[in-house]
Amino acid sequence: MTDLMQRMVDYANRPNPYPLYEELRRTPVVRQEDGTYLVGTYREIVQLLHDPRLSSDVRNRADAPPASEEGDGMPLSFILLDPPEHDLLRRLATRHFGPPHRPAFLDGMRADMARIVRERIETFAGREEVDVVDDLAYPFPVTVICDVLGVPHEDEPLFHEWAEGIIQPGEATGPEDLEARRGRAEQAIADAREYFAGLAEERARAPRDDMLSGLVTDDGPEGRMSRDEVLSTAVLLLVAGHETTVNMITNGTLALLRHPEVLERLRREPGLIARVFEELIRYDTPVQFVPFRTTVADVEVAGTTIPKSAAVTLVLGSGNRDPAAFREPDRFDPDRPEREHLGFGGGIHYCFGAPLARMETQLALGELVRRLENPRLVTDTPPYRRNAFLRGPRHLQVAFDGVRD
Ligand code: HEM
Repeated sequence: MTDLMQRMVDYANRPNPYPLYEELRRTPVVRQEDGTYLVGTYREIVQLLHDPRLSSDVRNRADAPPASEEGDGMPLSFILLDPPEHDLLRRLATRHFGPPHRPAFLDGMRADMARIVRERIETFAGREEVDVVDDLAYPFPVTVICDVLGVPHEDEPLFHEWAEGIIQPGEATGPEDLEARRGRAEQAIADAREYFAGLAEERARAPRDDMLSGLVTDDGPEGRMSRDEVLSTAVLLLVAGHETTVNMITNGTLALLRHPEVLERLRREPGLIARVFEELIRYDTPVQFVPFRTTVADVEVAGTTIPKSAAVTLVLGSGNRDPAAFREPDRFDPDRPEREHLGFGGGIHYCFGAPLARMETQLALGELVRRLENPRLVTDTPPYRRNAFLRGPRHLQVAFDGVRD
């Protein structure tokens, strides 16, 4: 049997990895030829997401890079750390993003986000066809995350470039290409950090109502992040908040267009969007797997012992289609009673930005469905990005008969 991971990253399987996942789930814990492990069943993924013996700290990896992945000597962002460092940095970031310290921050941005979506869709008027990726799903989240952080609008184009650069390694076609792409990613991270260093200086001198200002002037009971930690956190939010949401909006549009009865129902009942969102993230998961967890002790899962220091990949996209957790998992059904999907991960690294991702996607999809007259796919199957981990179409051409007011 060819290595399952190799087949999962094989571009030919990008439009539909789900038959492969069915094969993966036949064995809850799969050992690959290179000694790494894959886990694709719902119950075992949940177990491992909550097991402290699975480390997210890249320094525990057998192939750990000499310094950090984010540039020499720079502190790691909290997605790549374990407790207690992870928990402290996440708490310090949360103080400037949501409850209990800033309960109204995201809600305060809702009207602006709705306006951005409206203005984008207004530009569709008079056209017969748009690319949902380039015309909405790609530019929208970058504008939002720049607003969250406090990046001036005129600097936004830089962020498109950096966000794209940083995820380059996931697009590699082979080992040589991977080296080149890693180089580009490192450069993009260094450039983004340098930019944030300048902006952090400005915000420390003259704070505003944004997250960066909050982080650099924090006077909370647990102290303040170091300046380097602020930069790592800002870069993390940029990356984690961007490409994920692009795929969410695009995969969501695709699934709705392939299920016109749900689309029509959503148009009649806009309040259904919250349920539709949860089903969409389960049905076509934008972050297909959590790679790079490392065991720091022998861990027994479903009768198999994963030895200490092994690399483990948790395939969320497969867990979300596990028939043991979801009845008829391949059916797109917003009314299904089982809703505990793995789309935002689980345990201590559960997606920090989930409330923002929900708000952005619900606004974008809700407005698309409401405004586009008779929308339909121009090409089914659309072309996909190379990235197997952040999986989604590169373009999604949609034709329509007009734009409603
Ligand atoms: C639909 C869009 C999104 C999806 C599908 C998604 C998915 C995920 C997943 C699966 C994880 C867990 C990773 C792990 O366990 O290592 C995660 C973590 C994270 N996400 Fe999201 N995410 C989305 C949007 C966002 C947004 C908008 C932000 C920015 C505000 C964000 C910030 C983060 C951060 C900072 C973490 C790390 C949390 C930690 O380590 O404690 N995400 N996300």
